[in-house]
Amino acid sequence: MGKISLKPYNDYCPQTLFLYGTYDEQGNPDFGLFCWFSYTWDKEMGVMCCIGGNKPTKDNIRRNKIFSASLVTEELLGIADYLGNVSGTDPDKMKIGLDIGKGAVLDVPIINDSPVAFELEATDFIEKEGSTVILCKMRNVLQDESLSSDESFEQKLMRIAPVKTTCKHYFSYQGKDLGGWGEPMRSVIKK
Ligand SMILES: Cc1cc2nc3c(=O)[nH]c(=O)nc-3n(C[C@H](O)[C@H](O)[C@H](O)COP(=O)(O)O)c2cc1C
Repeated sequence: MGKISLKPYNDYCPQTLFLYGTYDEQGNPDFGLFCWFSYTWDKEMGVMCCIGGNKPTKDNIRRNKIFSASLVTEELLGIADYLGNVSGTDPDKMKIGLDIGKGAVLDVPIINDSPVAFELEATDFIEKEGSTVILCKMRNVLQDESLSSDESFEQKLMRIAPVKTTCKHYFSYQGKDLGGWGEPMRSVIKK
């Protein structure tokens, strides 16, 4: 099979999506959508993520040093797409009737309808041109009890259906195209 060389890009390398939850200076929750997220090892599992530009999520993480990352599932895709396309600088962003809970170990907002939420403590901020790489300790994993059932991993993954993204499109756990960035949010109605 022949190969072609391309400039840096990551199409055909699907990424898992998370909603980062933070509190602003007034204690109001803010959520944004993120895919530049992976794992590290430092005696225990940790997280690395990259946040570009200036955005409320980054300001809040810098100030509080803690945040949550809730897994995006097909059920959550409409609101996730909305939270990734509307800036937290819009005072009405969070007026969409989200079911918001709290972490069990850290004082962070989480998405109650997500089956898995990481409670993260940011330990290192690495400043790059136009972005910040953040290394985190995983202080808790808050997981739906239903994921402790006797079903196979395959059955449980099929049931929760995490969404993947690549090529500026969302894909279902089974590989179906769920629309381009900015499309699923059309189902979200502001309250
Ligand atoms: C599919 C998708 C993935 C995204 N991933 C990232 C990411 O990994 N890093 C980042 O800095 N912004 C990412 N964004 C943009 C943020 O979600 C967006 O800036 C959002 O407004 C952040 O929330 P905030 O403004 O409330 O802080 C992504 C947006 C979309 C639609």
